[in-house]
Amino acid sequence: MVVDTPAWQHLKRHASDLRGQHLRDLFAADPNRFQRLTVRWKQSNDWLLDLSKQRITAETLPLLAELWQTADVPGWIAKMRAGAPINHTEGRAVLHIALRENPPRAEVAAVLDKMRGFCDAIHSGHWRGATGEPIRDIVNIGIGGSDLGPRMATQALAAQHVPHLRVHYVANLDGADLATTLAGLAPRTTLFIIASKTFTTQETMQNAASARAWLTAALGEAAVSRHFVAISTALDKVAAFGIDPANAFAFWDWVGGRFSLWSAIGLPLALAIGFDKFSAMLAGAAAMDEHFFSAPPQENLPALLAFIDLWNSDFLGLQTRALLPYSQSLGLLPRYLQQLEMESLGKQVGRDGKSVGCPTQPILWGEPGTNGQHAFYQLLHQGGRALSCEFIACRAADFPLAGHHEKLLANCFAQSAALMQGKTAAEALAELTAAVPPDPGFLAPYKVFPGNQPSTTLLLPKLDPHTLGALIALYEHKVFTLGALWNLNAFDQWGVEYGKQIANALLPMIEGKAPVADVDSSTAGLIAACKS
Ligand code: F6P
Repeated sequence: MVVDTPAWQHLKRHASDLRGQHLRDLFAADPNRFQRLTVRWKQSNDWLLDLSKQRITAETLPLLAELWQTADVPGWIAKMRAGAPINHTEGRAVLHIALRENPPRAEVAAVLDKMRGFCDAIHSGHWRGATGEPIRDIVNIGIGGSDLGPRMATQALAAQHVPHLRVHYVANLDGADLATTLAGLAPRTTLFIIASKTFTTQETMQNAASARAWLTAALGEAAVSRHFVAISTALDKVAAFGIDPANAFAFWDWVGGRFSLWSAIGLPLALAIGFDKFSAMLAGAAAMDEHFFSAPPQENLPALLAFIDLWNSDFLGLQTRALLPYSQSLGLLPRYLQQLEMESLGKQVGRDGKSVGCPTQPILWGEPGTNGQHAFYQLLHQGGRALSCEFIACRAADFPLAGHHEKLLANCFAQSAALMQGKTAAEALAELTAAVPPDPGFLAPYKVFPGNQPSTTLLLPKLDPHTLGALIALYEHKVFTLGALWNLNAFDQWGVEYGKQIANALLPMIEGKAPVADVDSSTAGLIAACKS
């Protein structure tokens, strides 16, 4: 077990040496702390990763790099690149990196060509709906990895959208999602993409059937071939649904759902921004791949993000990470990363079938700044819970409205500074005395900030397809690294199966087709309450 290795023990000792040290003192003790604990990625327009506000010292990263060697992360990278079945519980290779290699391998190139042709046909108006009108609205129906990636990236690249085409996403089984999306759309000019790796997912199949009913009620059965395309690894099931195989875009079982944005699953995004920009995103991801494969661990951005999560989770006991993009366009990044990180690493059983013996993936949540400041930041500052924050900001705005971006950056940097330094009772009292309120002593305790709340800041250039591609690949490789460090298979997701299994058993009871039996009294009571 990783917890029994000398590298782990060295980290444990180091953490105990650091206990009780306040970040404010670490900054005071070392004027070069920022330079020492900041890494730049110059190949790609100068990214900056500032770890100086994490509760680490110059000794911490070399110790974490020792763990990288102990866990043989380079060996795992080599296995991934060679196509070894490192998703051992499903017997699959993990090769999403092959989707952005240049030149692409033949099977990938064929699908990319087909995607380009389809994008061109939609954008030029060459592709017509059943009544001869061009397509104006695309509705992607998918869930999890078949939704979150393209949805997040479509919003992130809003500044790059092609004109005259709107791309919508429907995921939820709740009919409200599809119904409210379709409310403003015309069947004649709407095209559905049914995106599902397995083409069996209940939510997607139900939404697809309802979308089809909506379309055929208006235009008849024959219209399906002009208004439905599919993305799947199960092309037989696509055909069985009634979608013309010519309108199906394939991908492969060596692409995990939450790593599939780079495959045909990216089609709605490619439609939103145009295929050339989609290609630029692949190139950004490939640049990050190259960095991950070649940079030493202490200069390797994915490795460093992984180190910080592991350090915070296992040595400082921080079980939560707040992801705080100071970018409206990155507003869906927390949700996307919830699947990427928590579905990949929310596990306790290691590759040897035994408990890994330490906490793993922290709970990840977040909201774009500055909105979060007016909602939950109070708790971050004074709630008494230790957690780690991750700030993401861009040096230049993607929507450069005068007066906005400087204020956005000021807020971002102010928050990490406040969380780090806090405010002592003496400082609070001094401020109050200066302002001469009626009773400074009364208010002072409420104005104390403990500080010492660690954070990372990732400063990007401008948000464009290349930068976004590299950013997503950064987190993919971070997940890969943590999987190797914790000895977890980051590529399966058995934990989502059990609930599905029970839901399948309950459905006939709720539909009234089977007696309510073999269920606990709470579940039986809830079913009875719905029926009455
Ligand atoms: O949430 C479980 C899961 O299997 C995800 O891993 C996947 O992204 C999602 O369901 C959707 O699956 P599919 O693309 O097969 O519909």
